Amino acid sequence: MEKKKFYITTPIYYPSDKLHIGHTYCTVAADALARYKRLTGCDVMFLTGTDEHGQKIEDKAKEAGCTPKEFVDNIVEGEHGVLDLWKLMNISNDRFIRTTDDYHVAAVQRIFKKMYEKGDIYKGTYKGKYCKPCESFWTESQLVDGKCPDCGREVQDAEEEAYFFRLSKYADRVQHLLEDTDFLQPRSRVNEMVNNFIKPGLEDLCVSRTSFSWGVPVDFDPGHVVYVWVDALFNYTTALGLFNDRYHDYDQYWPADVHLVGKEIVRFHSIIWPAMLMSMEMPLPKHVFGHGWLLLDGGKMSKSKGNVVDPYILAEKFGVDALRFFLMRTFPFGSDGNFSNELLIQTINVDLANDLGNLLSRTTAMVGKYFGGTLPEGCRTCANPEACDGELRDMATALRGAYENAMESFAPHNALAEIFKVIQRANKYIDETAPWALAKDMEHNGARLAHVLYNLLEATRICGILLSPFIPASAEKIFDQIGACDGCRTWESAAQWGSLTETAVVTKGENLFPRIDADKALAELEELEAEARKAALPPVEFEPFTEEAVDFDTFCKSDFRVVKVKACEAVKKSAKLLKFTLDDGTGVDRQILSGVHAYYEPEELTGKTLVAIVNLPPRKMMGQESCGMLLSAVHTEHGEEKLHLVMLDDSIPAGAKLC
Ligand code: ME8
Ligand code: MG
Repeated sequence: MEKKKFYITTPIYYPSDKLHIGHTYCTVAADALARYKRLTGCDVMFLTGTDEHGQKIEDKAKEAGCTPKEFVDNIVEGEHGVLDLWKLMNISNDRFIRTTDDYHVAAVQRIFKKMYEKGDIYKGTYKGKYCKPCESFWTESQLVDGKCPDCGREVQDAEEEAYFFRLSKYADRVQHLLEDTDFLQPRSRVNEMVNNFIKPGLEDLCVSRTSFSWGVPVDFDPGHVVYVWVDALFNYTTALGLFNDRYHDYDQYWPADVHLVGKEIVRFHSIIWPAMLMSMEMPLPKHVFGHGWLLLDGGKMSKSKGNVVDPYILAEKFGVDALRFFLMRTFPFGSDGNFSNELLIQTINVDLANDLGNLLSRTTAMVGKYFGGTLPEGCRTCANPEACDGELRDMATALRGAYENAMESFAPHNALAEIFKVIQRANKYIDETAPWALAKDMEHNGARLAHVLYNLLEATRICGILLSPFIPASAEKIFDQIGACDGCRTWESAAQWGSLTETAVVTKGENLFPRIDADKALAELEELEAEARKAALPPVEFEPFTEEAVDFDTFCKSDFRVVKVKACEAVKKSAKLLKFTLDDGTGVDRQILSGVHAYYEPEELTGKTLVAIVNLPPRKMMGQESCGMLLSAVHTEHGEEKLHLVMLDDSIPAGAKLC
């Protein structure tokens, strides 16, 4: 029988900055769904990628002093870039599209032309407001308090000759799609789209720009580039081969089963995207799911607000699976959720270390301790079953159905909640059956004990299968520890109690999810995050150059001399000051105090040849006289001031004048 196809996408990310935990959230969710669908036997196409055109990228590249392509290459392919991050997070995408890829650019040109030839794209004058960070055009009526309704930032006036897409023509059909079908999920997002955007009247959409050039050129009108959202949305189809020869599976996978997108881009995906597909006479995706945001201190994470969380730090510290699990378990997928390190640690400790980790380690340890790692034949059945055996078995067997319902309705958090009910039931079963008590009389209770442990292995196995889309690497380790063969790691066997071989070889392996010392981990995280914030600051900065000219005579009045350090010591009660005793060539020692202790220890300076200005009036510091100043060079590195005393070749005698 031919496998059922399933095509799932994430948004394609703007590589204008490094990605953060909010971006990771959506990609992990898509990955869990893709893996779930593969588990159930579907032929899955899972697409992600990057959206690389637009003014924001052009501006950023200019700032960085490189070409836009060099700029995006670094963020996509460079160290800790987008590709690295998805590899780290164990994302199983089948394809990765970059909108700067030639095949996509050429396809977008053909798409644009097709809509133009059809009359759905026409030339007009654009008057309105533009939000640069969001790359969104707004009409006056859409602004909120005169600001961008998405991000709340200032918008700019914009007027120019431009191409327009006849969005208005499709308003009725789009409204019907939203209101009368299950296209847009969760349903709570439908009203917002219809009331805020469609009912006030859908205006035609400006779909070309002339004020910058980093985009797909409109091939029949030089100077115009295609609006970045038109370019971006069609990625979902060009990545399958629409209007290009790079790929050939458009017919197999289009229309998409679901586009997962963040709530702020639901408008693009549920109004503009279907309208353009209608214009192209292409089938519509089956679903768009708008998930919520991960918030930090109540606000959306964003680089420009400086409140992003680095997934690299968290994955390194707690493990990739723990992080994936946390994201899916904690926040209802359609709603916003408040991210915090405390919550992350708590989830790991409660669900993974305590509930799942304990079930696995206690069960495998007991099979080892009481049966040398292999249960006896016949353990699947029991001569004197107890009620709790049936309860555990029935719950575990019914789990797959509840899980499937949750996954099919894009509620991975509910799917995980169902699994943890069974894990908790299994832990309770250990307390009820008290295997350690049974083990005291193996002659009479050995068979019962073997059955109890077999039941625990079975419950663990079934949970392991259903957890595998979320924590793929750990699920493999669970299967290895309980000795599950390939045939009893399958979707089918997740609903078949008793699939595990009775004499499976069980090994108590490493502790998959060690308990985390919260206080220690939080302190360490704070330090790592502070370091990362510092590293994100500009690498080196210098004082701006003084604009004002100094006349030659004034300059010549400063008397700079070579001096040799005869002695150097810290000034008592001062953290900063060092006291220098200097040979300045006059035969009389000169004393200078200098605030360089943060950069030098006194010992390392004795004997050095430095430069001092010697005709400054003497001044008192910490009760001691300082006659002159030592010259130093300063710059800033990752936000931290660095200082270097000016040092000369030792062969230059003390007293030599600098001029
Ligand atoms: O919007 N919590 O790209 P993008 C949850 N290029 N999701 C978040 C988030 C957070 N704190 N921050 C960002 C774009 N996201 C377009 C997409 S698709 C044809 C073009 C999500 O990099 C955000 O909601 O700004 C969006 O779905 C995705 O990351 C990409 O955001
Ligand atoms: Mg965005």
